[in-house]
Amino acid sequence: MKKHNFSAGPSILPREVLQGSADAILNFDGMGLSLRKISHRSKNFEAVMDEARQLVKELLSLGDDYEALFLQGGATLGFTTVALNYMKQGGHAAYLNTGVWATGAIKDARLWGDVSVIADSSDKNHSYIPKNYEIPQGADYLHFTSNNTIFGTQFHTFPQTTLPLVCDMSSDIFSRPFDATRFDCIYAGAQKNMGPAGAVLYVVKRDSLGRTGRKLPAYLDLQAHIEKDSMFNTPPVFSVYASMLTLRWIKANGGLEGMGRSNDAKQKCFYGELDRNPLFYGHSVPEDRSWMNATFRLHNEQLAADFDALWKAAGISGLSGHRSVGGYRASMYNALPLESVQVLTEVMQELERTKG
Ligand SMILES: Cc1ncc(COP(=O)(O)O)c(C=O)c1O
Repeated sequence: MKKHNFSAGPSILPREVLQGSADAILNFDGMGLSLRKISHRSKNFEAVMDEARQLVKELLSLGDDYEALFLQGGATLGFTTVALNYMKQGGHAAYLNTGVWATGAIKDARLWGDVSVIADSSDKNHSYIPKNYEIPQGADYLHFTSNNTIFGTQFHTFPQTTLPLVCDMSSDIFSRPFDATRFDCIYAGAQKNMGPAGAVLYVVKRDSLGRTGRKLPAYLDLQAHIEKDSMFNTPPVFSVYASMLTLRWIKANGGLEGMGRSNDAKQKCFYGELDRNPLFYGHSVPEDRSWMNATFRLHNEQLAADFDALWKAAGISGLSGHRSVGGYRASMYNALPLESVQVLTEVMQELERTKG
């Protein structure tokens, strides 16, 4: 039976990427050797790293004033890495708290300096994106999480500020066009729109570094990674390779414009049904709904067993909500076809027909 994978992450990847990754595990680049068993310093792998870094810049329309790095430690280590690379010694940073991951970023940044949380949506269980807040003029940077994977909200316009912007884009990078030149630093774990877990992408404006007056441990110093072309130490070879294949797939499917068109069609299909079907309601306010992670619930929780049986029978997996929201979460990353969203909406209609 065909599976429809709505997992929030690690999540669905394009079939070609899985096939290409599987092939490389057995015989990478015609070398007769597994990708898992060759030196990351071999010219064959260096070419992969170069292509992956180049594709990131090409897809985001960035020039030579930006660098793309594939590091380790997930976006979670990114919370510390960005604070150490952007918050001056004795300086201060502004953060927007829009969910679990933003809260984690704030907590870790506070270990290194003064952090102001200038807006916080926890009063309504992070069901909205704060709009009216004051941005302190002297802050070293403003940090936000562009898509809140757990609560299902997303920034549809980015904060307006002259401060350097630092953003955790783990769950919506490459999902639609945006102006990447507005950011000093973007970071994103691979395992949603880019590849298997193991790599974290940093997109860094070159001249934004080296201004903090801090001494940094080598691995946490983004400049050290830039100087070594993202090969300062052994990179997450498999995750970088599969990410490179996904980046090629994004390019071949229309780049960010193409992703944006298909993600828009999926979100319209899903939210159209959610708004129409009287059995369900959404967690997030309509204007801030995430195109990537749709969080929703049943009005009558007693129908949960029936709904669960229906979606499981239709081949859907990964639909259970996160414990901090409950209900359901449909994650509709780039690689999820519209057809899978249609299967989900048909199941919602079926529940209405039989139990509504
Ligand atoms: C927006 C966001 N930030 C950070 C993280 C943490 O990422 P990692 O597990 O790669 O450390 C996640 C994980 O789902 C996420 O969705």
